[in-house]
Amino acid sequence: MSADIRVKVPFLDLAAQSAEIADEVLPVWQAQLTGAMFIGGPEVAAFEREYAEYIGVEHCIGVANGTDAVELALRSVGIGPGDEVIVPVNTFIATAEAVTRIGATPVFVDVDDEHLLIDPDAVEAAVTHRTRAIVPVHLYGQTAPLEALVGLAARQGLAIVEDAAQSQGAASTLGRAGALGHVAATSFYPGKNLGAAGDAGAVLTDDPVIADFVRNYAAHGSSVKYVHDRAGINSRLDALQAPVLRAKLRRLEGWNAARRAAAARYGELLSDVPGVRVPSTRAGNDDVWHLYVVRVDERDRVLAELGRAGIGAAIHYPTPLHLTAAYASLGYREGQFPVAEAAARDILSLPMHPHLTAEQQSHVVRALASAVTISAVA
Ligand SMILES: Cc1ncc(COP(=O)(O)O)c(C=O)c1O
Repeated sequence: MSADIRVKVPFLDLAAQSAEIADEVLPVWQAQLTGAMFIGGPEVAAFEREYAEYIGVEHCIGVANGTDAVELALRSVGIGPGDEVIVPVNTFIATAEAVTRIGATPVFVDVDDEHLLIDPDAVEAAVTHRTRAIVPVHLYGQTAPLEALVGLAARQGLAIVEDAAQSQGAASTLGRAGALGHVAATSFYPGKNLGAAGDAGAVLTDDPVIADFVRNYAAHGSSVKYVHDRAGINSRLDALQAPVLRAKLRRLEGWNAARRAAAARYGELLSDVPGVRVPSTRAGNDDVWHLYVVRVDERDRVLAELGRAGIGAAIHYPTPLHLTAAYASLGYREGQFPVAEAAARDILSLPMHPHLTAEQQSHVVRALASAVTISAVA
């Protein structure tokens, strides 16, 4: 099976998203520009209301990006210097950076081999007298196993701070990602399922005290102009991002359904391709397929071959956090988190987005099948 290199398959197609929403967003931008509505305002307030309602929480506070959102969420439950926060080792570095930024220590734990999500048994084993919070990451469009973590956190008196950056709209048996812990953080980085036209993020919670804290801390520690209750930060949802997010939120269910259909199609097309391990959905969950992550031998060579066939594939993530230079000082060793380390060698994210066509998927699968066949023969 050889792939037709004239068919290009981008990893993401953000231009297609922009084209769908342009007619709705441009008039609002025009009004914002002429009205000089750059900070806060009705569009931001409307998005916060609509997103809170969509996720199923009382409060949504728009902030500048997802990393700030994780930091603010951790601060809102009182995490600070000297505290330990349990973080899965397979996530984007921002999850751990937020812990580091507030002077607390990330304590890394391994993930499960099937879904590459935080492993509740590993969490239980990592709890010490300094542990204050767990950050389950709803990775790749899945929900993390909150069913197991909620009881554990309650028994140990720990806060659950969800990182829902990759799973807007995903649901578990307990509810939507972002509504399952004490507080949640999300990112609207452009490539996310719900992405802005630049950086943006949000904190979500049912708790009015947490919500007030986050609003205050993110606005220079101030709820009344020039009255500063604490030294906070400046982290606001850019007013120009709000109409983009509102227009995309109106389409999110449809776009997530298109991703589910594409994931099902990949599953069928790959079912008779030996040497490719396909992802699965946790029982009772509704994944939103932010990423479609397969596992293959000789991953780097396969990735290079896909690149030559015009296919944009990627790795999420090539280095588990404990092995990054950024966290070398924490003293973890290679071999300590074998599941994540093995996964980092063979995971491969295939193109996945709501505008992916059946023809593009067939092209991806043909190219992948041809690349893995070479591995099997070699
Ligand atoms: C799991 C996870 N957490 C946090 C972030 C940080 O978000 P941002 O890039 O908006 O700061 C991202 C994405 O970039 C992410 O994927």
